Amino acid sequence: MQKVLVIHGPNLDLLGEREVDVYGKFTLDDINSSLLKLSKELNLELEIVQLAGEGDIVKKVGSAKKDGFSAILMNPGAYTHYSIAIRDAVSAVSIPTIEVHLSNIYAREEFRHTSVIAAVAKGQVSGFGMNSYLLGLRAAFGLMANK
Ligand code: DQA
Repeated sequence: MQKVLVIHGPNLDLLGEREVDVYGKFTLDDINSSLLKLSKELNLELEIVQLAGEGDIVKKVGSAKKDGFSAILMNPGAYTHYSIAIRDAVSAVSIPTIEVHLSNIYAREEFRHTSVIAAVAKGQVSGFGMNSYLLGLRAAFGLMANK
């Protein structure tokens, strides 16, 4: 069974109470349950982590290939907009990364319009709430099926 690594970045553990007008009322557990349900349909194995620290994300991405993952689904949170270290990790690892965002980052404050990750990601899904993750997982599945 192919394995996909799901990384939730900083502050995503606060979903449900954090800026509900922007992110919605669902929690991280709700997202994870939906992802696990879809992964069963797609016959994929998931490991899901929430990491607040930049270095922790860099390390997890860096060992993803060695740890047997075929793809990474990642919401880097605020790191999206400035972490060259995470960008370099994504660029260095030889498996595809799909970047996802709950909100449409291009419709928000100007500083959110830039993603330093996007150019090294396989693709990006932004603006569909929880569905961004599910669409991202389907995209990962498509990439693996086409191999
Ligand atoms: C986010 C968008 C980022 O700008 C923000 O810092 C987040 C969440 C999103 O999922 O919409 O933490 O990545």
